[in-house]
Amino acid sequence: MKIAVLSRAPQAYSTQRLRAAALQRGHNVKVLNTLRFAIDLTADEPDLHYRGRQLSDYDAILPRIGNSITYFGTAVVRQFEQMDVYTPNTANGISSARDKLRANQILSRHNIAMPPTAFVRNRADVRPAIERVGGAPVVIKLLEGTQGIGVILAPQVKVAEAIIETLHSTKQNVLIQKFISESRGRDIRALVVGDRVVAAMRRSAAGDEFRSNVHRGGSVESVELDPIYERAAVRSAQIMGLRVAGVDMLEGEDGPLVMEVNSSPGLQGIEMATNLDVAGAIIDYIAGQVAFPEIDVRQRLTVSTGYGVAELLVHGAADLVGKTLGEAGLWERDITVLTLHRGVSVIPNPRKHVVLEPEDRLFCFGKLEEMRSMIPERRRRRAKVRRLPRQPLSE
Ligand SMILES: Nc1ncnc2c1ncn2[C@@H]1O[C@H](COP(=O)(O)OP(=O)(O)O)[C@@H](O)[C@H]1O
Ligand SMILES: [Mg+2]
Repeated sequence: MKIAVLSRAPQAYSTQRLRAAALQRGHNVKVLNTLRFAIDLTADEPDLHYRGRQLSDYDAILPRIGNSITYFGTAVVRQFEQMDVYTPNTANGISSARDKLRANQILSRHNIAMPPTAFVRNRADVRPAIERVGGAPVVIKLLEGTQGIGVILAPQVKVAEAIIETLHSTKQNVLIQKFISESRGRDIRALVVGDRVVAAMRRSAAGDEFRSNVHRGGSVESVELDPIYERAAVRSAQIMGLRVAGVDMLEGEDGPLVMEVNSSPGLQGIEMATNLDVAGAIIDYIAGQVAFPEIDVRQRLTVSTGYGVAELLVHGAADLVGKTLGEAGLWERDITVLTLHRGVSVIPNPRKHVVLEPEDRLFCFGKLEEMRSMIPERRRRRAKVRRLPRQPLSE
């Protein structure tokens, strides 16, 4: 394949390793400076220029977009997507991951455990927010910090309030997060490639520092990951739309707490700590995807008006339980069942003799009008248990 690594740092360890891994496998690889692209929307088809010349054909890109150029960098990645060039990390995934609040919001509806977090703007809402996440000591984070800069541990509520007020006065948005003390200045970095963790390390903060970032003096060691941590890492990366990601997790009392998902994880620390060829795993994965790309089903199938994809709940349509798929009459209603989800297993192209169970979910393509009646109800807000007002003992 012909692959471009988008990077502004051709000499950096990660870029060099990716380039070497691609060459070693016989691929044609170029390192292209993200800021030297020009997005061209003048012609009939989306196009890109590089250093003033029309870009040649590429099979894949691997974006390594630094924090300071998120907007331009993701615009370039999006342009490659429009040109049908494969990228393991989409523009959307990269920008969502970059913003700690946005990432938390996206992950929070998918049963991914995270440190309790709050986001407020009004001064009056600060103290209740600190209390909601568990009180002092509390962690305060700038939304787009990296390498531990912009992460502060406030020992008391008053100090936390003062810090937050100061940051707000300089127009900085901050997250308020529970300090996970049981993690003791340590965290786990899992390198996810595709649907597996290819390497993992534990980072430990230096001295009395609570931030374990290598840039803050943290040390690293290889670690054998518990499957629960692996699953949390892989699911988080997938939910964010990232096929190459560094997922950071704190070791909470009840298991992993996902802190962030990095879309351009550094390879030096993790390759040194584990002695594993992470760059090679990334290149192999991309080559596999180029040969047989995943397609965005929803986008591709929502082409003709009135048709689309939807997930149907069997128990939502009571008359389907106990029937076979054939008897359910879906094909007659112009609905094709692509997969049947039963518990943790998935049956692709299910046959008509399969008997439907109440908890089954059907992933279908068909007439939206026909499917509408069968689409699950919107998720309700979980009702918090409220204490009833105390009743007088006697009437
Ligand atoms: N809620 C928390 N509880 C305990 N330690 C934390 C918490 N949040 C962050 N840390 C520590 O601070 C480090 C940096 O935080 P992180 O959110 O990853 O910011 P950055 O993007 O700057 O790396 C983490 O690696 C971890 O060691
Ligand atoms: Mg981090």
